[in-house]
Amino acid sequence: MEKIIPVKLTSLTTKGGCGCKIGPADLAQVLRSLPAATPNPNVLVGLDTSDDAGVYKLTDDIAMVQTLDFFTPIVDDPYDFGQIAATNAISDVYAMGGTPLTALNIVAFPIATLDKDILAAILRGAGDKLQEAGVTLVGGHSIDDQEPKFGLAVTGVVHPDKVRTNAGAKPGDKLLLTKPIGVGIYTTSLKNGLLSEDEVVEVTKVMTTLNKTTAETMANYDVHAATDVTGFGLLGHTSEMAKASNVGIHIQANQVPVLPRTRELAEAGKIPGGTKNNFAHVAESVTYSDTLDQMDRWILCDAVTSGGLLIAVAEQEAIKLLDELQQQGVDARIIGEVTEENKGHIIVS
Ligand code: CO
Ligand code: CO
Repeated sequence: MEKIIPVKLTSLTTKGGCGCKIGPADLAQVLRSLPAATPNPNVLVGLDTSDDAGVYKLTDDIAMVQTLDFFTPIVDDPYDFGQIAATNAISDVYAMGGTPLTALNIVAFPIATLDKDILAAILRGAGDKLQEAGVTLVGGHSIDDQEPKFGLAVTGVVHPDKVRTNAGAKPGDKLLLTKPIGVGIYTTSLKNGLLSEDEVVEVTKVMTTLNKTTAETMANYDVHAATDVTGFGLLGHTSEMAKASNVGIHIQANQVPVLPRTRELAEAGKIPGGTKNNFAHVAESVTYSDTLDQMDRWILCDAVTSGGLLIAVAEQEAIKLLDELQQQGVDARIIGEVTEENKGHIIVS
């Protein structure tokens, strides 16, 4: 397909801010100030847990999974940006064990000053990903805004008894991660023109790979907890799992898949602000081995866009699940295990 790059999309951030998620500490402070939601027995997963999506029971057999995600451009190619945004938004349905069905586009675009073909390419990229995922676009909303932003609201279904949340990890479980990290450091480097064309392709491939195969495969296994690794970074999402499941988690840093030039780019200073926020936010919940220097620690907290699933699976099934995922081309690794001791805490060695 012909690529349109008349402008550097990532350079269009106009209003300050990083276009990334509002940090976990700031967000928690805001949410604390809201009145508690009225209890509703049909809300299976709601605001009170840090899960990927909301789940609402419609009947004894069907619950609805709802999520949305949007952000400023993180790559320059509009078609790729659309694909990334869709892959990322759908991922939260997969992380909950659901099947995504419908989506709505969320568009902010400077329609008077930026070529309309760019917006068309963004929407085409998203549309192609939705089609790959078997999701039907049923509408959307657009506003004229100086700074482009794009994302989607996605709705799916899940059996009420088969919802996967980040609670439920059990001592002895193995932890699988299904995509490499380092995405935030790569995309920050991309904005600064430090990536080769091949590296742009490489990180784009990570962000545009649907977690569909992973989700469909894990459905057949004794998976106790799952989440996708995104803005709060590997250790941020692991920490949420440890707390929600009331277990300890041991991560083996040398087993964590990392994009090849992450460390070099981090050493060149291309660490996103969000990554440093993540590091600070989990500081009290993580004990790092002395062998890991500050650079290693930042990398483990790197803010990810459209990352893989983090899966806690019964020990006796872990190797089988790993094999099946790898056979289907998913770059999954066992990166650690769940422990009885150190509840709510992560040990990284
Ligand atoms: Co998520
Ligand atoms: Co999300």
